[in-house]
Amino acid sequence: MPVKQAEFFVSNSDPAKCPPPDRPEYAFIGRSNVGKSSLINMLTGRSSLAKTSGKPGKTQLINHFIIDNEWYLVDLPGYGYAQVGKAEREKFAALIDGYLTSRPNLLCIFVLVDSRIDPQRIDLDFMTNLGERGLPFVIVFTKTEKLSQLKLQAALDQYRATLLQTWEETPTMFVTSAVTAAGREDILGFIRPLNVD
Ligand code: GTP
Ligand code: MG
Repeated sequence: MPVKQAEFFVSNSDPAKCPPPDRPEYAFIGRSNVGKSSLINMLTGRSSLAKTSGKPGKTQLINHFIIDNEWYLVDLPGYGYAQVGKAEREKFAALIDGYLTSRPNLLCIFVLVDSRIDPQRIDLDFMTNLGERGLPFVIVFTKTEKLSQLKLQAALDQYRATLLQTWEETPTMFVTSAVTAAGREDILGFIRPLNVD
């Protein structure tokens, strides 16, 4: 079922000022430029709801979007991109950390990884940290239309194998493309039942 209504709600530089945790919430997190904002636009069918850019470091605040008046999607700054300066990286890391510790309504974190690159230490460490905090997460592979079926399958297999070196089982994984809208129904179909639990 597609999203009926998607609206920008509020932007914050202070996690304490985010909206009251009165609705189910889902956050999109990952390295700068991985495609977080693009995925939000793809899921909502609103091409310019979240601001995107070819240059990393576009999203600088915690952005809440309200969907069908029932739940929040949250777009966050990226972490760990070398081209983003050190001070900026640290600021974003603190913002993400503050956000993660202050949202009791956060039902699932979508950790985005670029399907075209090998598993990155920073993403694996981020997932380990979520696990240690007991925060539920899934993995979203982005930009998959850039890969052949064969290469995509190999990338997924490699990611699974890497995770299984530290995890007993792998989290749910989604294969997406903001260009072809691949994965939209899968992700919306995953979110909807969580909303009503
Ligand atoms: P920051 O806000 O800087 O952390 O980046 P972000 O993760 O929000 O990435 P954003 O959505 O701004 O996209 C970064 C670049 O990747 C843009 O040039 C997008 O057009 C491109 N992009 C995003 N998703 C896809 C995709 O599925 N396929 C392709 N080919 N390009 C994509
Ligand atoms: Mg962004």
